Amino acid sequence: MKVNHWNFDEVIDRKNTCSSKWDGTDRFFQKKNLLPMWVADMDFLSPRPIIDAIIRRAEHGVFGYTFLSPEYYKALINWFQRRHNWPIEKKWIFSAPGVLPGLSFSVQAFSKPGDKIIVQNPVYTPFYQIIKNNARKRLLNPLKLSNGHYEMDFKDLRAKARHPRAKLMILCNPHNPTGRVWTREELITLGEICLENQILVIADEIHCDLVYSGYKYTPFASISDEFAQNCIICNSPSKTFNIPSLKLANVIIPNAQLRTKFSRIRQSHHITTLNCFASSVLEAAYNECEEWLDELKVYLKENLEFLKHFIKEKIPEIKVIEPEGTYLVWLDFRGLGFDSKEITKILFDNAKVALWEGHLFGKGGTGFERINIACPRSILSEGLNRIVKAIKEFS
Ligand SMILES: Cc1ncc(COP(=O)(O)O)c(C=O)c1O
Repeated sequence: MKVNHWNFDEVIDRKNTCSSKWDGTDRFFQKKNLLPMWVADMDFLSPRPIIDAIIRRAEHGVFGYTFLSPEYYKALINWFQRRHNWPIEKKWIFSAPGVLPGLSFSVQAFSKPGDKIIVQNPVYTPFYQIIKNNARKRLLNPLKLSNGHYEMDFKDLRAKARHPRAKLMILCNPHNPTGRVWTREELITLGEICLENQILVIADEIHCDLVYSGYKYTPFASISDEFAQNCIICNSPSKTFNIPSLKLANVIIPNAQLRTKFSRIRQSHHITTLNCFASSVLEAAYNECEEWLDELKVYLKENLEFLKHFIKEKIPEIKVIEPEGTYLVWLDFRGLGFDSKEITKILFDNAKVALWEGHLFGKGGTGFERINIACPRSILSEGLNRIVKAIKEFS
């Protein structure tokens, strides 16, 4: 048996750290003592080189204005070349204080109020919020679920892309919450439809490094020069290395004209760089933490197997939608025969477990729940046991 260098089994007390997950959940749901398994961060320590980089920079003690180091760009470029075979040029890179701000700037730069933006539901809730908050309209291209596997509906996408106000598509690659890692072929079909209809693709690739063995993440922009010229890619080391609160992301834009438009919007928000820890953190992450990531992925896969086995044995009415990537697992509760209110009651009141409820991911999400498995196995086991007990008692 492989022995982890990093002890992902260690339970770390995250309470009293202003953690959204561990300190914010009860307040958010107005309930007490919920076990939080909804927010998409991990209950693991970040890799040591990142912690050391932050300490070193903090110990300098002067936190005046900074810019991003040349090594920041080198580390990012090398990572995507080495791990994902995608050559990025330095001039394509814009930093952003998060992937969501990067998406929102893109929406502002490349569409007008009232324009339609295509999304593939059920999908990550903030996509809808970004569209609405910018006074754009969502245009749904629902994913199709067949035999426990989500697929894109290209016939529907072709029809939607022809809409005269359709201007952008926000692609989630890999997809949250279904865990699909889109294949090169799927992305080619999608990209061609978008090119034919002059739809610009805004690809959120934040989960790109968390893909299970047997599957492969394809950077949308790496497929062809035509695609590269028709897309904006948003990515970040935040999910990969569990550093989302450091607010560090990148928006990659190969097309020079699009860069000019994007830059104008970004400047208008006075976003020109990141915090003073960003350079050393990203350098440490992308230069020194590859081994940690590979071991993390082994642990996540073991957690996934644990969850699948547990559910199959104890509560087979719940169907696990097998994720190909991400540490988020989409569970189909419909076989239990409860309505959504009953499921909420079972989970939040009886089991005292906070999952992310499926209906929040839009049409097609009702009857599903999203669980985060990036936690020590003991916590995962505790959560699952509470859920099974509550379902049995409720039945
Ligand atoms: C698909 C996706 N995009 C964006 C984010 C959030 O990105 P950020 O915190 O960098 O704004 C998440 C977080 O869960 C996510 O799952």
